[in-house]
Amino acid sequence: MPHQRPTSLAAMSELVESVREVLPSVRADLEDLVRIESVWADPARRDEVHRSADAVSKLLSAAGFEDVRIVSEGGAPAVIAHHPAPPGAPTVLLYAHHDVQPEGDRGQWQSAPFEPTERDGRLYGRGTADDKAGIATHLAAFRAHGGNPPVGVTVFVEGEEESGSPSLSALLAKHREELAADVIVIADSDNWSTEIPSLTVTLRGMADCVVEVSTLDHGLHSGMWGGVVPDALSALVRLLASLHDDDGNVAVEGLHEAVAADVDFPPERVRADAGLLDGVTEIGSGSVVQRLWAKPAITVIGIDTTAVASASNTLTPRAKAKVSMRIAPGGDAREHLDALIRHLEQHAPWGARVTVTPGDVGQPYAIDASGPVYDAARAAFRQAWGVDAVDAGVGGSIPFIAEFAAAFPEAKILVTGVEDPNTQAHSIDESLDLGVLERAATAEALLLESLGQTEMSRRSLAT
Ligand code: BES
Ligand code: MN
Ligand code: MN
Repeated sequence: MPHQRPTSLAAMSELVESVREVLPSVRADLEDLVRIESVWADPARRDEVHRSADAVSKLLSAAGFEDVRIVSEGGAPAVIAHHPAPPGAPTVLLYAHHDVQPEGDRGQWQSAPFEPTERDGRLYGRGTADDKAGIATHLAAFRAHGGNPPVGVTVFVEGEEESGSPSLSALLAKHREELAADVIVIADSDNWSTEIPSLTVTLRGMADCVVEVSTLDHGLHSGMWGGVVPDALSALVRLLASLHDDDGNVAVEGLHEAVAADVDFPPERVRADAGLLDGVTEIGSGSVVQRLWAKPAITVIGIDTTAVASASNTLTPRAKAKVSMRIAPGGDAREHLDALIRHLEQHAPWGARVTVTPGDVGQPYAIDASGPVYDAARAAFRQAWGVDAVDAGVGGSIPFIAEFAAAFPEAKILVTGVEDPNTQAHSIDESLDLGVLERAATAEALLLESLGQTEMSRRSLAT
């Protein structure tokens, strides 16, 4: 058993107060970060991602980190900052990402996507939650400790998470020593509600591909040939339709299914949180959380074909679509991509030619949420939020978690976050609940304190 120094309740309530005090400045810093259009996926805005890394590094330096560096390995700039551990204390790695998803159609936002705006206790703007609020959480926790928490802290803020973290393994390999930690806190996930926190214990993996269907060597007059030879778009649509059965269950053979925790997720909540239109039904079978967290899902995320505005009476010779799959925890993303490709190659109607180009894969992950670090985290969450955290799965993916786990097998991984069911990450009108930011920062500050009060060897932390 690790040796516990007596916990100082006074120190704990002082921390709660300190977070409240630093919050206005943290919020102002978050707003400055949101004003930077750090969309790594848009080649025209890569300079902005560099500006954003710069801004993050300045904030970390000002917060009192001794050693702050911007690093990259052929991809987006990441920021690493380090505060040394007092003798015998563990080191905690705090992760967030400073890149954001593209804003989509600016006209559909209620307020400009890169101009943070408060309405009803929520801060609107791209990245206010996913995941610049993760950076803000780490800043708030560190500042609440006056820049001198009782543990070592390494902050790692990545710049290409939304692009699948392609250079993360190179970064990990290059900076292995600097990033080594006993506990890894990934502040990039969801909460059960604005009042009830989650500890994310499973994440789905993902894989995608582009399927191209061709039926003709050139377009044809649809009156002259329609009814005799197939157009590629109709063939593609039938091929895509074969990915699900009539109930909306995934119909690809050989995919893995896990078992979700027994958590109630009522159908009304699906309708409200997802914005499902009246009359439109859910798809798939099994409980909601089983389908969201523990079953595979397949989505068609784009189609290249003739646009309606330029459509003429022509049989389309070729068309392509991007297909994205989520993989249940325990499944292997590469094997799943192979199964998807096999399905697409084998199900085209009318002998249509199919070419599939494999895309990205990211592994799913399931965490063993037990042991002294989880005990400390649950206590910190209870104190900060006033209620117990729900052990939740998420349908989304953070592929690098599996990579981190492989690089640091001894480290305990905690997946926290500042999103809530109304965040609308990746969509228009993304927002952060400012109360959630305060509670998440408080929980993190308390966690740093209690990890510092427990003298644990690296090995005992993991068990
Ligand atoms: N923060 C999300 C992951 C997430 C999503 C956590 C939903 C909790 C609930 C992350 O930024 C993300 O969007 N990940 C991508 C993966 C990536 C490879 C593009 C995703 O899930 O699509
Ligand atoms: Mn994110
Ligand atoms: Mn995201």
